[in-house]
Amino acid sequence: MAKCFYIETVGCQMNVLDSELVAASLRRAGYEAVDSPRKADAILFNTCSVRQHAEDKIYSALGRLKNVKEHYPHKVIGVLGCMAQKDREQIFKRAPHVDLVVGPGQLAQLPSLLERIADGRGPQIEVSLDRKAGNRREIEESFERYDPARDAPARPFRHQAMVRIMLGCDKFCTYCIVPSVRGPEQSRPVEEIESEVRHLADQGCLEVTLIGQTVNSYQSTADGRTFRLSDLLYRLDGIEGIRRFKFVTNYPRHMTTDLLEAVRDLKRVSPYLHVPAQSGSNAVLKRMKRGYTVEQYREMLAATRETVPGAAVTSDFIVGFCGETEDDFQQTVDLVRQSRFRNSFIFKYSPRAGTKSAELYEDDVPDEVKRRRNNELLAIQNAISDEENRPLLGRTVEILVEGPSKASRKQPAGDMLQLTGRTVCDRIVVFQGHHRLIGTILPVRITQTNAFTLFGEPVIR
Ligand code: SAH
Ligand code: SF4
Ligand code: F3S
Repeated sequence: MAKCFYIETVGCQMNVLDSELVAASLRRAGYEAVDSPRKADAILFNTCSVRQHAEDKIYSALGRLKNVKEHYPHKVIGVLGCMAQKDREQIFKRAPHVDLVVGPGQLAQLPSLLERIADGRGPQIEVSLDRKAGNRREIEESFERYDPARDAPARPFRHQAMVRIMLGCDKFCTYCIVPSVRGPEQSRPVEEIESEVRHLADQGCLEVTLIGQTVNSYQSTADGRTFRLSDLLYRLDGIEGIRRFKFVTNYPRHMTTDLLEAVRDLKRVSPYLHVPAQSGSNAVLKRMKRGYTVEQYREMLAATRETVPGAAVTSDFIVGFCGETEDDFQQTVDLVRQSRFRNSFIFKYSPRAGTKSAELYEDDVPDEVKRRRNNELLAIQNAISDEENRPLLGRTVEILVEGPSKASRKQPAGDMLQLTGRTVCDRIVVFQGHHRLIGTILPVRITQTNAFTLFGEPVIR
């Protein structure tokens, strides 16, 4: 009988992609995926360290498995991803029933590590080098590439795929753990990306999202010339079959004219740009070491809107960063009010051990103040999102139909069901339709909108 695995994923798109690749590699090794830890021989958590809350969730899930392990000692419990890289051996100390700790740079070894455990060789740990533990090359190499041949059935949705174009991050924003747990910034060669996208196109994939922590600082050399993200987009645009390209996440300072023009000129590149601002106050941006002023961010935004009219720009903000005054916060409010983002993700500052801000500055904004600022900013953004969605009312937009909506997944299966899809601007559209529409690009007339969702009906042509 095949061994079964269960994998739970938290964190960003990097983790979603890693879990997809882990699942594919385990299937190749003869494992079967199951949808509950109870049925699994191997229970895996692909973890995130970006905020304390993400880690707490995993440690309490691990805590709940202690009993399970006592009753079923042969079940393997594994911690993968960013928290594995950050906490390493400490995970065994905090949760002694864990069998396996694997950093994001060692995921390719997972099948063989599971084999070792099955052979009775005891708990296994594989992580990359610490960023200070060697020269750049050694550290880079310790974060092993993990983008093997793409396996169509492993993807949750056959018509959409993420393609990692770069690993790691070198920005070291003072609050952020990502550069430590994901290692140095490394761009993948153009040919490798191109062949991966061709492979996906052959499998019927329609939408490709290029991912990287600072995706627009992509740079590699091929045929004696330098390829930036704009060059890469031109190259990929020649691939038959892919109807949409998206890319996330952009770093404001690298939002260059060539990239904006590529978005404007390449019809298959979606006018959707996630460019996190983090704060509207120069004092805070400086302490965050973001490398730009709010004036520069505004200029970037103005250039974006001028070059790509109608572009949907989204952002991230951190509220309650060390030393953030009421006045600093008001400047963030002003930036959100004036920028008219299609959406913003707002986070309360969470100090991360090992980052500069945790070392240098006091986490001096009380939690209730962080919470109030978070709610206030969210309410302002939601009102804007609502207003920004309203002009779509009555208009026909093209969506890529992704599948049944959350609500309809609970209902008995039938031919007609509630489906969701996404516009090029990454807006979610809910509509009633036949299940065979899944995986098609469909014109839909918008009949209702709110801050988060558009509702519509298919246009029969
Ligand atoms: N590479 C991306 C995203 C990194 S993490 C970028 O540069 O924008 C995603 C978001 O989490 C960040 O944009 C930031 O808003 C938030 N974040 C990162 N570290 C955080 C921390 N210590 N506390 C709260 N939010 C944080
Ligand atoms: Fe973190 Fe800054 Fe790198 Fe984004 S750019 S991953 S926020 S260090
Ligand atoms: Fe979290 Fe790691 Fe992504 S820390 S945000 S899963 S890169």
